[in-house]
Amino acid sequence: MGAVLAAGCSSKPAADTASLTPPFLETPVAAHPAPSAATIAKGRQLYEANCIQCHGPNGQGDGYGAPFLVPPPRDFTAAQYKFRTTSSGLLPSDDDLFRTISRGANGTGMPPWKYLLADEDRWALVDYVKSLSPRFESARDLKPMPLPDAPGKSRSAERGRAVYSKMQCDKCHGDDGRGAGPSAPTMVDGKGRHVNARDFTQPGTFRTGWNERELIRTLETGMNGVPMPSYSGVMTKQEEYDLVAYILSLAGHGAGNQKRQVAHSMEGLGAPSRVIKLREHAWKYEPSEIHVKAGEVVRIDFSATDNGLGAGHGFALDGFDQQVFINGAMVGAPLSVTFKVDTPGRYDFYCATQCSTTELHPHMHGVLIVE
Ligand code: HEC
Ligand code: HEC
Repeated sequence: MGAVLAAGCSSKPAADTASLTPPFLETPVAAHPAPSAATIAKGRQLYEANCIQCHGPNGQGDGYGAPFLVPPPRDFTAAQYKFRTTSSGLLPSDDDLFRTISRGANGTGMPPWKYLLADEDRWALVDYVKSLSPRFESARDLKPMPLPDAPGKSRSAERGRAVYSKMQCDKCHGDDGRGAGPSAPTMVDGKGRHVNARDFTQPGTFRTGWNERELIRTLETGMNGVPMPSYSGVMTKQEEYDLVAYILSLAGHGAGNQKRQVAHSMEGLGAPSRVIKLREHAWKYEPSEIHVKAGEVVRIDFSATDNGLGAGHGFALDGFDQQVFINGAMVGAPLSVTFKVDTPGRYDFYCATQCSTTELHPHMHGVLIVE
């Protein structure tokens, strides 16, 4: 019944985020075991095993992967956090940090760790990350700020367009919302590095999720350390919700290329007679050798265990690269392709995702043997 209703009134375009990541506010928060020297020490170990390559040995955001990442990894010693329920300028709450570490940040290199690390481990990481800045010691009462509740059912993207101009969002995000306003070239973060304003036509890049609640939250909290201000108390509820309706409408049908092609199969093959599970683990394929029969319809279900340098991992078959490929499979969001090869032989397969310069993952190759 619910599904029928939802389908019947789906005037809103569905976001193609190619991700199973829940929005920030809907990310489950497990009970926090009491922080202690032991949990911090455990967090440090986990950090060294999982986070150091991006966030750096001392948490300064300068790991060896950092130069490849836009946006750059967070410097935990500066303690400027973007994804919060707390008021502008304040530190994040423990729950906020737990949510980010669990779900990652959409459209960035920050992976969702809930697929790899247990609840207690993610909490130990929260304890450790906090220990990297003395600001947390004196912080009290990091309570979620109240968000304005919805002004009834009425929303008008058209009225929101006027609010967008009145609030001068266009200065940074551009008149067309694609992130290239007049101030865009001069925007920098706390360390003087260039920052891109969000391109509203790309739903998959909204860091905390592409929905009304997350946008309202961002407008209220702002993002610390970057030029996105807080608009708390500046607009009426109606204006704020209309504005959000307008932003969401920019990624609607025909709004551009938000549907990045993530996977492509051969057309018209019908159901596969063989399904193969292929995964990326530690920048290698498992299995790296696949046997199939000539002319048989094969489906490959590909999953990744890390997000590479933020771009995920892929699959392509030599000689069929244009017809069959997977691009940017992220942790928790497997992708599939269906194909058949009629001529027996050995076909190399490789990672089709752009992070794969040979230097970065020389081992992401395999061979498909068609018998
Ligand atoms: C592949 C690189 C990469 C790895 C590995 C990584 N991160 Fe991140 N992390 C990032 C990037 C990039 C950002 C910045 C995202 C942004 O600014 O939108 C980030 C941001 C964060 C933030 C800041 C959120 C905020 O509100 O500003 C936290 C906390 C964090 N990471 C924790 C971790 C922890 C803990 C680990 C290890 C378990 C980890 N990260 C591993 C790339 C990485
Ligand atoms: C001074 C420049 C500036 C102004 C003015 C500005 N923004 Fe932003 N905004 C940014 C930047 C920069 C980012 C990207 C921050 C980042 O992720 O590093 C951003 C990000 C966002 C995001 C993305 C949140 C997410 O989850 O990824 C939304 C939504 C947004 N802005 C809406 C607005 C709206 C609506 C207005 C007007 C009320 C506005 N912004 C005004 C600079 C600005």
